[in-house]
Amino acid sequence: MEGTSDFLGRDVVSIRDFKRDQLEVLFQSVQELEENPRSLDGQLKGKLVVLLFFEPSTRTYSTFHIAAENLGMKVSGFSNPAGSSVTKGETLHDTIRMFEEYGADLFVIRHTMQGSPRFAAEITEVPVINAGDGSREHPTQAMVDLYAIRKSFGKIDGLKIGILGDLKYGRTASSLAYALANYDVELTFIAPDALKMRPEVQQFLERRGATTESVTDLKGVVGDLDVLYVTRIQKERIPDPTEFEKVKGLYQVNLEALARAKPSLKVLHPLPRVDELSAEIDTTNYANYFVQAAAGLPLRMVLMTNILGGAS
Ligand code: NCD
Repeated sequence: MEGTSDFLGRDVVSIRDFKRDQLEVLFQSVQELEENPRSLDGQLKGKLVVLLFFEPSTRTYSTFHIAAENLGMKVSGFSNPAGSSVTKGETLHDTIRMFEEYGADLFVIRHTMQGSPRFAAEITEVPVINAGDGSREHPTQAMVDLYAIRKSFGKIDGLKIGILGDLKYGRTASSLAYALANYDVELTFIAPDALKMRPEVQQFLERRGATTESVTDLKGVVGDLDVLYVTRIQKERIPDPTEFEKVKGLYQVNLEALARAKPSLKVLHPLPRVDELSAEIDTTNYANYFVQAAAGLPLRMVLMTNILGGAS
């Protein structure tokens, strides 16, 4: 597979570590896999992937799991630390060391603490994929998001993209913003003041010369957007319950909110949704979030194959 070497043996800790042409090679392979879904089956036969999920997950965990099985891999680890020795106080360091001894070829780590996947990558030679660390990053979700946009529009350059919701604590929003800095897009951040995009993300985008604007309300900008990326309020990450009470229910994307949207607008959402995205959108042409979620499977198959060199 062309471009495999760009990913061979690499950690995927931050989306900032990947350049546009590397992502494009990946997306081309995902497109080919979508056209021929069984073409990578068994490519990583016998390799062991260890999924260490210290936080709840539905899509990320299950797509990595199904992707690994399709590739013929053995899967170990846990989806819930409550059933592991983590509850006895075992450290991430020792957990990594043990699975190395058991023959891990790849780690996929989701953790409440930011920086945990980076720490893991520093202590093991085995490649590490960050499946979400605290409020910071979720690089494979950003790859899925870019792929979904590219699939809908045939391109990413030239689009006006709004990212709405909890931009302060949402890791998918920050990873997507970082990823979009590789493209020529106009970015609009839409968030209540208390949930504004974090300064370090804004500064990164400025350094990269990205065009961004920040607003508090969807109404004034919805008519200009090609893509509206909606995110839920990260209740579990907001340190103060009174802070959550102030922001809960502040925004909801429903038909009324999209009244002035372009007919070609695509609404994305990393899911899970709570109350910020009405089910009445599901049956409209705006809805793109289930297509987006579906892309997680082929994307993670291609990514793991490229890291472990299965199809070279
Ligand atoms: C997201 C996450 O875990 O950050 N879910 C996902 O992986 N698709 C989004 C969220 O929890 O809001």
